[in-house]
Amino acid sequence: RRVPIVAPSMLKVDFGNLAREIQLLDEAKSAVLHWDVMDGNFVPNLSYGAMVIASCRKRTDAIFEAHLMVADPAPYLDEYVQAGCQWITIHIESQGNAKQHLRHIRARGCLAGLCINPETPAEAIKPLLGEFDTVLVMSVKPGFGGQKFIPESLEKLESVRRIVGSDTLIAVDGGIGSTTIGPCAAAGAEVFVAGSAVFDRPDYRQAVEELTDLARR
Ligand code: DX5
Ligand code: ZN
Repeated sequence: RRVPIVAPSMLKVDFGNLAREIQLLDEAKSAVLHWDVMDGNFVPNLSYGAMVIASCRKRTDAIFEAHLMVADPAPYLDEYVQAGCQWITIHIESQGNAKQHLRHIRARGCLAGLCINPETPAEAIKPLLGEFDTVLVMSVKPGFGGQKFIPESLEKLESVRRIVGSDTLIAVDGGIGSTTIGPCAAAGAEVFVAGSAVFDRPDYRQAVEELTDLARR
């Protein structure tokens, strides 16, 4: 069993204090920062892009993951590589050829992540086995932070674990907090994206530590 990783979702950060926020996340020993990229098309919300991520790259040594919630990732993949993301996650529901996107990401030396929305069955990843390093299971409809965890995601995590075996890292995103993180860990998740459960707390370090502890049991 690998050590659980709590990855703060940068959608919930105080953008007026970005440098300070990243410093606090560094002090919280967040190994991965999860950057939610939204294009206002694939999801009904707009967030930030590679320019903002690139400007934060020098502020921390944490691994940057770009979670691309965009209609067609193909024209943008290299921007995120150049912005310093070492892990790029695309949606199976996006346009274009997912296999090509994943191969493109790997060819640039990055971890290739495949994300599935709540309405997409776990089996949908089967034709892409061998083409990705991580699977991200959405446990809310993508687009907004602060939503309620969809309970069926636990079965989805178990199915994904059965399909990918033990080598592939499984992550979960949406509604992760003190009551949902333990069950997600038991169902096979190892990376836990958390927005509200970190940023709505006064002490990020304490929040990350407590969540990591709950994922360990
Ligand atoms: C949702 C994003 C998530 C979100 C998580 O579209 O992919 O990363 O910000 O936020 P919480 O943890 O508040 O559900
Ligand atoms: Zn996300």
